[in-house]
Amino acid sequence: MASREEMILAVKAVQNQFLTQDLVQQCMDIQRTLAERGKEISLIRIFEKKKLLDKHQLHFLQTGEGVSLDLSTPQGRKAIEGYLISRKIGQGGMATVYQARTSELRDLAALKILFPHHYGNKRFVEGFLNEAKLMYELQHENLVQGSDYGQSSGYYYMALEHVDGPSVQDMIDEEGRLSEEMALHVILQVARCLEYLGSKGITHRDIKPDNMLMTSSGQIKLCDLGFAKGADSAGEGEEGITCGTVQYISPEQARGRSDVDIRSDIYSMGATLYHLVIGEVPFSGADGMEVMAKQVLEGLSSDKTKSGMISHHMHYFIEKMMAKEREIRYQSPRELIEDLEAVVEGHQALQFEPDSVKKTLFSGEEPERERSGIRRSGRREGGRRQSRVDGKRAETRRREGRARSETSRRSSRRSQGRTSRLRLRRKDKE
Ligand SMILES: Nc1ncnc2c1ncn2[C@@H]1O[C@H](COP(=O)(O)OP(=O)(O)O)[C@@H](O)[C@H]1O
Ligand SMILES: [Mg+2]
Repeated sequence: MASREEMILAVKAVQNQFLTQDLVQQCMDIQRTLAERGKEISLIRIFEKKKLLDKHQLHFLQTGEGVSLDLSTPQGRKAIEGYLISRKIGQGGMATVYQARTSELRDLAALKILFPHHYGNKRFVEGFLNEAKLMYELQHENLVQGSDYGQSSGYYYMALEHVDGPSVQDMIDEEGRLSEEMALHVILQVARCLEYLGSKGITHRDIKPDNMLMTSSGQIKLCDLGFAKGADSAGEGEEGITCGTVQYISPEQARGRSDVDIRSDIYSMGATLYHLVIGEVPFSGADGMEVMAKQVLEGLSSDKTKSGMISHHMHYFIEKMMAKEREIRYQSPRELIEDLEAVVEGHQALQFEPDSVKKTLFSGEEPERERSGIRRSGRREGGRRQSRVDGKRAETRRREGRARSETSRRSSRRSQGRTSRLRLRRKDKE
């Protein structure tokens, strides 16, 4: 009989599309038959013996670690050509993020490496390269800047500007909830980034505190374009496909509508704002499906929003951003920015002082850590608490470009200038 741990492992193997449910069932039957004959053997051993999983898939199932670089060896630290990796800083649903320095300039970078157990899935690889290309090409002060991407030692990676502060989720984890001035400071900057993305016809589709990072000077940078949908793929969305993180997902995104637009990101920003000032997500439930159903059907709990816990204008912002009907929401980030700025300007008390953030959060050279009391949480490395709907992720990532298998990387954008750095043939990335 498969143990509870083995059952969890089997579910993970199916969820990650390593094995079909039928195949897992067959292996469990073999395990049971052998046990009846007095031969105990673990399920993972059967997968291994039958060569059903590659070493990366086995490693992920056994350890939960997406990328297994051994940073105690020079090979591990130099796995990505042109970089020296020092430590792991995060792990999301698709990738592990490491801190590194470029070999030439010794500049700090964040290297996001796609989990190798997804390399057999062409759509995941294409999706990752699509994200890398967007991060590289887009440029806004409130968006993490990509500087390089490609393949090295077999790993698909993208190099990003390294953000040295906590994520907004880390801040909530640490503080419970944020002050209204800090929350408005965060939302205003993300709204400016959304306005920029909107001008490029891009919908982010995974706006949440985990994907907002704060620099040591208090600036907010949005990251993770893993679900982003561009103008060129506007007709591509399929009815019934859902992606995002259920706690922040808009009703239309939860329903799997194909014509999701920037107003969906505005809803997710409203859900984020709710979380920031109330200290809990707007809707929770036993599982992702229940939470999604509430996003579609259930009104915001008025005892939370009207309890006097938050100001009138905050209540108004949240209600307007989180309207179930997107026609009632702010119609564009610009509209929202104007309202937010009016409130911030009109209320001295709400004016954000970057220095006060610095003082509170970062009191020394090593901003992230001990003295500030705000650190990158363990969860950051250990996966997410919220459930991100990524089973159908690949559906959102079909690109016209092809992933190339040979080494294809750009050297540092910073060192050589934007266009000269393109070592990969342009058509491969367009
Ligand atoms: N540029 C960066 N600088 C610092 N930390 C980062 C950076 N990019 C990502 N991270 C950390 O790694 C985590 C996972 O990255 P993310 O891009 O969200 O991956 P995923 O697509 O797998 O969710 C983030 O939540 C964040 O904590
Ligand atoms: Mg993420």
